Amino acid sequence: MFKPPAALLFFIFSLTAVNATVLFKEAPQFYNSPDCPSVFDGEENTNRLCSDDGIHVAMTLDTAYIRGSMAAILSVLQHSSCPQNVIFHFVSSASANALSLHAIISTSFPYLKFKIYPFDDVAVSRLISTSIRSALDCPLNYARSYLADLLPICVRRVVYLDSDIILVDDIANLANTPLNDAVLAAPEYCNANFTAYFTPTFWSNPSLSLTFANRSPCYFNTGVMVIDLSRWRLGDFTAEIEEWMELQKRMRIYELGSLPPFMLVFAGNIVPVDHRWNQHGLGGDNFQGLCRDLHPGPVSLLHWSGKGKPWARVDANRPCPLDSLWVPYDLLQTPFSLDS
Ligand SMILES: *[C@@H]1O[C@H](CO)[C@@H](O)[C@H](O)[C@H]1NC(C)=O
Repeated sequence: MFKPPAALLFFIFSLTAVNATVLFKEAPQFYNSPDCPSVFDGEENTNRLCSDDGIHVAMTLDTAYIRGSMAAILSVLQHSSCPQNVIFHFVSSASANALSLHAIISTSFPYLKFKIYPFDDVAVSRLISTSIRSALDCPLNYARSYLADLLPICVRRVVYLDSDIILVDDIANLANTPLNDAVLAAPEYCNANFTAYFTPTFWSNPSLSLTFANRSPCYFNTGVMVIDLSRWRLGDFTAEIEEWMELQKRMRIYELGSLPPFMLVFAGNIVPVDHRWNQHGLGGDNFQGLCRDLHPGPVSLLHWSGKGKPWARVDANRPCPLDSLWVPYDLLQTPFSLDS
């Protein structure tokens, strides 16, 4: 048994206090397989963040979920056949310490191609009305509605991922989902009771209830989406989403947070993504945090949606059985496990 001397512990503590980057381990380097397109050849001055042959991934970044984000990034790279072609676009609150977030990412992923975009969460808070789950009211949750504005024009397609996910399959298979004429693709759940996502106020209003008149809308999850940003920009869908949010402030037309405006704008017009790309609900139910099992069928992406998060349950020594699938991707340093 190795007992770290007090001086070493003090050293680790002071490093942690001064520089949060030591909290996370460095991930291994991942290499493209030989048949990957070479995305970053060519002139020095071509924007490395723009390539159409790259796989663009957008995620939010904040201190509360950073451990989840780090694990998610690692899982994307580890299962990608062309990991060097994956480009990450991180959105963080404009008030967050971007330098510190940048240092955390580049310490663990020194070879990662990424950029952090500041999100004006003060501006969006003005549009947020309180939902039935306060965790959903965090302004950064709404960043997914603004990707078309935040990311550079040259990025034309992006995969948006929540921070409480783990991929166990090649992200290229998700990113290359044919969108046809649609703006977005997402896992769709037509057995869910769509009516229940909107209030009686919405359905009893003669003009509002016509919103879905010429569509066959289904519930879909916005934690995993493939978005055609060019089409989004052309259709100015950010403005449309904001209009619904403004209406929600005046009359309560739904109960959840950032999801209903997405459904109001896109439900019935999306490309369904195979359910293997969103094995959702692993966070457990929102009331008691009960453990959930996988849904039947193949698994490409595990999603700890719901109240419980695997890192919190593992730390509390109360993990759910499936949390063991998350643990191998945890990059958190554990200086105190030296004696294990
Ligand atoms: C769907 O939800 C609505 C509103 O909550 C409810 O009135 C209706 O009975 C539900 N339908 C089914 C099939 O469960």
